Amino acid sequence: MSAITLIKPLEQHLPSYVSALQKGWSPDNLSPEAAEEELAKIAEDSAAYLDSLDDPDARGGPVRLPDGSLVPRLPGLRRFIWDGGFCGFIGFRWQEKTSELPPHVLGHVGFGIVPWKRGNGYAKQALRAILPIARQKGLCHIELTTTPDNVASQRVVLACGGELIERFELPAAFGVGEALRFRIPLDDA
Ligand SMILES: CC(C)(COP(=O)(O)OP(=O)(O)OC[C@H]1O[C@@H](n2cnc3c(N)ncnc32)[C@H](O)[C@@H]1OP(=O)(O)O)[C@@H](O)C(=O)NCCC(=O)NCCS
Repeated sequence: MSAITLIKPLEQHLPSYVSALQKGWSPDNLSPEAAEEELAKIAEDSAAYLDSLDDPDARGGPVRLPDGSLVPRLPGLRRFIWDGGFCGFIGFRWQEKTSELPPHVLGHVGFGIVPWKRGNGYAKQALRAILPIARQKGLCHIELTTTPDNVASQRVVLACGGELIERFELPAAFGVGEALRFRIPLDDA
């Protein structure tokens, strides 16, 4: 299995990311238009874009949910998954002094791998690499949600110590449907 690292990207890493976006890959699986938004931000001010990937004080402004409503942003960070080129994104958000999340935040961690690099164990490695970072923030566990049909994502979460907590109705802002909530305890991270 090839190895990946999580990188806090620099200017030199952007061309590989831009190329993935130009192929139509979106870093947000709930929002296909996120690719165009990312390209526009990088074109406008790449240094500011790179800065925005670390946002421990939630300065990035409100977050737009799939129904268009705006909710407060949590502190967060995003990292590139890298194997010598761009493989995907992993994002982690949290609330200070608690492992809980507000109802409109579906999980602490979201990730995606570009289709041409899937099936190499990259998402599992990336999720494992986030666990110590979450533990450093004082969290006892992280939660992740997937749709019931997203078997690949579920296998990634289970392989990283995830336990299925519940099947629940998505909040209305995310549309109609059910989702699965997993929890990964951080004692051994
Ligand atoms: C989910 C995703 C990140 C997995 O990335 P990946 O790097 O291919 O994942 P890994 O190689 O680490 O592991 C994938 C696991 O899913 C399995 N898998 C992949 N596609 C599958 C499918 N269609 N049906 C069942 N299992 C599948 C693999 O066999 C592997 O499990 P195994 O090692 O136990 O056999 C990737 O498919 C993706 O980006 N999907 C779109 C975005 C997304 O769904 N993100 C998660 C949101 S919660």
